[in-house]
Order: sequence, then structure tokens, then C-alpha cells
Amino acid sequence: MEVFTRIADLKATINQHKVNGKTIGFVPTMGALHEGHLSLIRTAKEHCDIAVVSIFVNPIQFNNPEDLRTYPRTLEADCEKLETVGCDMVFAPSAEEMYPEPATETYNFGELEAVMEGPQRPGHFAGVATVVHRLFNIVEPKKAFFGEKDFQQLAIIQSLVKQLSLPVEIVPCPIVRADDGLALSSRNMRLSAEARKIAPQIYATLKNSVERSHTANVDEVKKYVIDTLVSLKVFEPEYFEIVNDTTLQPIANWSEARGVVGCIAVWLDGVRLIDVIRFR
Ligand code: PAJ
Repeated sequence: MEVFTRIADLKATINQHKVNGKTIGFVPTMGALHEGHLSLIRTAKEHCDIAVVSIFVNPIQFNNPEDLRTYPRTLEADCEKLETVGCDMVFAPSAEEMYPEPATETYNFGELEAVMEGPQRPGHFAGVATVVHRLFNIVEPKKAFFGEKDFQQLAIIQSLVKQLSLPVEIVPCPIVRADDGLALSSRNMRLSAEARKIAPQIYATLKNSVERSHTANVDEVKKYVIDTLVSLKVFEPEYFEIVNDTTLQPIANWSEARGVVGCIAVWLDGVRLIDVIRFR
């Protein structure tokens, strides 16, 4: 496995592989890698000859400076994990390498960014789209792999590819959870032992809400999830939305959309956690 910090060096090696007829699969990450990330890389290796992983804590997608400052940075441990899943190339650029000048790209994702993470994290999706678009231009992968845990991010990336006719296929990958149900996240390592113990209640409540959805209406299910988490005292839900899985717009009735998911953002112990559950 080779580690690159310079765009030119990475491109030269990728081009060599392409000349040799190899297909490139790409997994963008911000590091602090866990089984969720590793599952994406295993899938990339199933689909493509060469797996390229980027590790870059993208400063322009953080709307909260404290979150950026404390985001875990564990490059050495990350590389050890990547070796075990057959990753071929790691791209770990500096901020100067990715942004030699301040970024000026603008994107419009319409209603996709008007809900949930959009209003809660101003500038977040512009920052994500900018870095992913730049990384696609550098790596020029055949396929790129994204987790369904960041459900709205996945929709934004699919829209980016469609709007700009980017020559890459986006492959959605299922959420990987801990044995107790908590969705794996780099931010989980910031939870205190006590908070980590109660954190699985997020997924437990989401699963119960799917049971309730067979007999309760959309508003009742939303209220159930918020009330249950609030009643546990330690959770502060930021939003729980039940949305059309394609448009990401909130639905009022179960029959309004063919695919329906519930998306939650909740604060626990000063850490912001997100999760997704499928209803239909
Ligand atoms: P990061 O949070 O590191 O996530 C990288 C990829 O791993 C994303 O596609 C995310 O959805 C996926 N992922 C994270 N946790 C997962 C889990 N438990 N199960 C399955 N997949 C999971 O998302 C980002 O980085 C950044 O916004 C990025 C796209 C790299 C742009 O900077």
C-alpha cells in the first residue's frame, strides 16, 4: 500500500494503473477509520481492481470550529487498518495541497439541502461537494463508495454527479453498527463510557418506531421518537424527520412515498450523532 500526500504523485501512479487496464474504486473519508469505513473499502475491492482511499479532514465542511479542532486524527492507525482490507493507495493531502487558494466553487442542491443537516449546518454540504468534486477530478475513479449512514450526503453526491455529468458511478453501502446497535462513527470515540452505554437507545428507539409505524401515523411516530429520547434525560434531539428517500422531503402520510426513511440528529454528551432507519 502506498501513501501519497501530493496530487501529482497520486495522479501519476493512478494513470499507470489505468494504462495497465485496471479499474479504480474510490472511498473518500476523513480518517479515524472504523469497520463502517472498512466495509466500504472491502466493497470497493469487490467492484474494482484498485482501491484508493482519501483521508482528509476537510476544514471547509465544518460549521463548528470546535468540532474541527477536536476531530480525531489517527493517520498511522488508519494506515494499519487499511493494509488489512487490501487498500492499494492512500491519499492524505495537507489543507494547502487541497486548497492552495480559498475555495470559490458554488453548488445548488435545491430542496435536497433545504432540510435536516442543511439548515442545521450552514455551508456543510457546499464544503462536502467542493472536496468530493475535487477528489473525483484528481482520482477519476470508475466507482465511488458512500455509506447510507450519511443519507443526505449520499443524495447530495448523487445529485452532484447527475448535475455535472461526472463520469463516476456512486455505490451506496449499508450502515455498519456495533453489536449493541449504535451506528459506527468516528465521533463515537468522544463519548464517555457512560454515554457510550446509553447511546444504543437511539437505534433501539428507531427500531421501535418502525413497529409503531404499522399502527400509528407519521406525526405520532415522530413524537414517539423525540419523546422517548428526551425522557431518557441525556439525549437532546436536534431533528427527527420522516422523509421520501429520493427527494428527502418530509412526508405527512405513509402512502405519500414509495421509499420512506427516518433521519435523526441527536446530541449526547456534547457529541452530535446521526442515524437513519428505513420504514418502507
Ligand atoms: P467520513 O465521516 O469519514 O465518512 C466516510 C464514508 O464512510 C462516508 O461515505 C460515510 O457515509 C461512511 N460511513 C461512516 N460511518 C459509516 C457506518 N457506520 N457504516 C457505513 N458507512 C459509514 O463522510 C465523510 O467522511 C466526509 O463528508 C467526506 C465524504 C469524506 C467528504 O469530506
